[in-house]
Amino acid sequence: MEKCNCTKRQTEKLKELNIDVGLLRPCLEKYTGVSGSLITVLQTAQDLYGYLPADLLLYISAMTGIPPAKVYGVVTFYTQFRTEPVGKHHILLCQGTACHVNGAAGIEETLREYLGVNEGEITADGMFTYSNVACLGCCSLSPVMMIGDKTYGTLTKESTVAILKQLAAKEV
Ligand code: FES
Repeated sequence: MEKCNCTKRQTEKLKELNIDVGLLRPCLEKYTGVSGSLITVLQTAQDLYGYLPADLLLYISAMTGIPPAKVYGVVTFYTQFRTEPVGKHHILLCQGTACHVNGAAGIEETLREYLGVNEGEITADGMFTYSNVACLGCCSLSPVMMIGDKTYGTLTKESTVAILKQLAAKEV
């Protein structure tokens, strides 16, 4: 299914990032040529590798025949897609209006202090990254953060630290 030397070069570069494109092949084989399937391919790739580096986007473009500009366009349009690596637990901290009014800034300060990182950085143990995001759609629970598919609401500094401790303890 390799199409040209470009994909070989990308495969080599991706190996250096510990990205094995072989894992994505079944998905590419299933969806190449299927209209409207780009988002599914990108979601599968992100689930496999945690993020979508530029060389992976070029590889997907080459393998599917979808122009790079279109692939980049979709990735930059949807906030669910990431082009930078993140920690094992990616915290999405809502900075929408209701959360802002109810103390999201204080929760961010707690995350920054407790984790020792700024937004977008990965903790030294590779466990956590936090990102500020727009409204998560559950304003009545503000302030809110999401980690994986779980929503945590009515956050206080104490409950935020307790949640982080709980997640870290599960990894031991
Ligand atoms: S403003 Fe935070 S969930 Fe809506």
